[in-house]
Amino acid sequence: MKIGFIGMGNMAQALCEGFLQSGSIDSKDVYAYAPHQDKLQANARRIGFTPVASATELAKAADMLFVACKPYQIEAVLSGIGDALANKALISVAAGWTLEKYELLLAKLSDPAKDEGELLLDSVRVQCVMPNTPAMVREGVFLVETDHSLRPEEREFLFSLLTPLGLVHELPGHLLAIGTAVTGCSPAFVDLLIEAYADAAVRYGIPRADAYPLISQAVLGAAKLQLVTGKHPGELKDNVCSPSGTTIRGVQALEEHGFRAACMASVDSVMNPS
Ligand SMILES: NC(=O)c1ccc[n+]([C@@H]2O[C@H](COP(=O)([O-])OP(=O)(O)OC[C@H]3O[C@@H](n4cnc5c(N)ncnc54)[C@H](OP(=O)(O)O)[C@@H]3O)[C@@H](O)[C@H]2O)c1
Repeated sequence: MKIGFIGMGNMAQALCEGFLQSGSIDSKDVYAYAPHQDKLQANARRIGFTPVASATELAKAADMLFVACKPYQIEAVLSGIGDALANKALISVAAGWTLEKYELLLAKLSDPAKDEGELLLDSVRVQCVMPNTPAMVREGVFLVETDHSLRPEEREFLFSLLTPLGLVHELPGHLLAIGTAVTGCSPAFVDLLIEAYADAAVRYGIPRADAYPLISQAVLGAAKLQLVTGKHPGELKDNVCSPSGTTIRGVQALEEHGFRAACMASVDSVMNPS
């Protein structure tokens, strides 16, 4: 199976590097297109894929196309590819796109007066996936929409690419938005947390260069402990809070400053932009 990336930005680079480094696919089977060809060629030399000069050329070269441009660009990009899209498998990583939305677009792009148009609507297969940036270090989360139109062997191949890069979890289309909020956006929220605790460490004398790795390792360790033990986070918190101890004072301060409410409000803001 040959794969192609439409767009080679942050997310596509993370996926492409991950797929190649984990040995799930050979570099000769990986192609990519992006408008800024100098940048694309520099990335191609660094990562090891074959750069191509147009999205149509990409569609001709690859069987499975990863749609990794910005969500608002997708309609124009796919309509520009036209009939070369027929018989391809599309793997979309774009926020806000679901199988239903792609089917509406493919119907719109299919011209019933043209045989090729009918083929396009019937023949293009779609799977929406929401990755997150920790995929770069093989600790990603991949939300895979339950509804899809991939062939079984294509889905199996896709899972074989994603699994080495993190947790692969199926979600129905109507839960992808909240799933994206809590897994796609949360790395930024946790980065804020790391930065804030590092500031506190600096405030009390730890050099900044030491503060980031210390806090990040503590966050990583707490997350891993929860994942490995499967324990309720409240129980793990209780284990650290000895009676009359210092940690419970910190917990109290977080509660007084509305920490949990702030976390939940951050997700409300993602879900209800205005
Ligand atoms: N970053 C994340 O954390 C994250 C998480 C989940 C999902 N996603 C999704 O991943 C997708 C890409 O996001 P990103 O963060 O990687 O964005 P990005 O770094 O800005 O990359 C966008 C890519 O799209 C390319 N592009 C622009 N116009 C194009 C066109 N007409 N045809 C083909 N490619 C075109 C750009 O090429 P040039 O550089 O040559 O202009 C660039 O390579 C988005 O749909 C986003 O929703 C991102």
